[in-house]
Amino acid sequence: MTSLGNEGRDGFSSRFGIICAAAGSAIGLGNIWRFPYIAGESGGGAFLLIYLGFILMLGIPVMLSEFVIGRRGQRNALGSFKRLAPGKPWYFVGVMGIIAAFMILAFYSTIAGWTLEYIVKAISNSFAGKSSGEIEQMFNAFHTQAFRPILWQLIFMFMTVWIIMSGVRQGIERYAKILMPFLVLLLIIMAIRSITLPGAVEGLSFLFKPDFSAVDSSVLLAALGQAFFSLSIGMGTLITYGSYIQKKNKLGNLAIEVSMADTLIAILAGVAIFPAVFAFGVDPAGGPGLIFNVLPGIFQQMPGGYFFAIIFFVLLSIAALTSSISILEVVVAYMTEELKMSRRKATIMSALAATFVGLFCTLSFGPLKGLTITGLSIFDLLDYTASNLLLPLGGLMIVLFVGWYMKDADFKDELSNKGLLKVRIFGVLMFLLKFIAPVAIALILLNSLGFIGPVDGGTEHSN
Ligand code: TRP
Repeated sequence: MTSLGNEGRDGFSSRFGIICAAAGSAIGLGNIWRFPYIAGESGGGAFLLIYLGFILMLGIPVMLSEFVIGRRGQRNALGSFKRLAPGKPWYFVGVMGIIAAFMILAFYSTIAGWTLEYIVKAISNSFAGKSSGEIEQMFNAFHTQAFRPILWQLIFMFMTVWIIMSGVRQGIERYAKILMPFLVLLLIIMAIRSITLPGAVEGLSFLFKPDFSAVDSSVLLAALGQAFFSLSIGMGTLITYGSYIQKKNKLGNLAIEVSMADTLIAILAGVAIFPAVFAFGVDPAGGPGLIFNVLPGIFQQMPGGYFFAIIFFVLLSIAALTSSISILEVVVAYMTEELKMSRRKATIMSALAATFVGLFCTLSFGPLKGLTITGLSIFDLLDYTASNLLLPLGGLMIVLFVGWYMKDADFKDELSNKGLLKVRIFGVLMFLLKFIAPVAIALILLNSLGFIGPVDGGTEHSN
């Protein structure tokens, strides 16, 4: 399945393979679990608009830059910088990315574990006949335990490791590409059911009617973090994948297609969830449990809901897997190329380390609930630090690198496949990369950290 790519390295053998991998990375729990819960905590409509603006103005340029750095550098996230900027400290961006990868994998596997549990709950028909209060109770009873959530987390990490090690990765990604249209179809059906529930209109206006009076710096930062998280940018996942892309593929098209697919799925998830949130009287700002408290209720009110629920949680778990392998791959590519470790050893060691941190994330909903640092649980602290701080900071450095360090001609050379393709709106892109993106990201980061503007510390992120 794997063909030799550039410079005799492993690579994606076809355009189809790259789209599968990049879209597989982007589309995951970020769209279906994280987007609704962050939007719910951040007030809805205005958040959505800001989020969409960030995808367009900041997300797509950063994604494109990552592809360019990776394909030109022909190395992992750290090695690519070393190669493109020898003797300069730019590789530190890669170091930050590897740290972020551990943090994200740790809490990602907690939530992925929950989705595995929900496959079993769906199969055993546990949602049938339950009121929305009982559904919330069921979720609470499950996720505050120690043993079961950890067991599922371990199973999920084991699957991630197995895929990375056994070379079935491209198989899984192709498989996922075929399955994801079903996930979209399912989301559309769920959205229709959700919108037609009594009391649903309120949810639609929550999601689509912007109320800018509620926007403060923490909302801006949350939207920025969510945009980066969902697109898988800011920590070198797409630098790593970029290095596997063949020289003949079109990076611009890839960045636009992946971003659009990712955004569409997040919006669909929002339309499926918020009407039901209001119809069932669930708190939209209720935190990471939102979809687990709401979705079972939707299935219950659908003809054939028993089967839809099973299929949905299976597809969601697969989407989570193609994302988690892309996170682990960042670390594994670094360890094998820079530290000359075997792929097997690198995978096992990095997964063990991430799982160790992950256990604390899982337990922070149960036995370790009381343990907070600066008011945040371990789970929230890792998510907040990685998504809202490290990813934007990484993205900032990445656009600065491409916009100011790299020669414009080199950037254009890579984008145009050595002049073969016509690069449209190059001027607009350069302007975004050099000025808009770095200034916007820096302002949002500084503002929310309290260095400029109103000091609110950005710690309203609650759970
Ligand atoms: N984007 C994925 C999701 O939405 C998660 C993910 C994969 C990710 N790779 C990443 C997030 C790199 C940040 C950085 O579920």
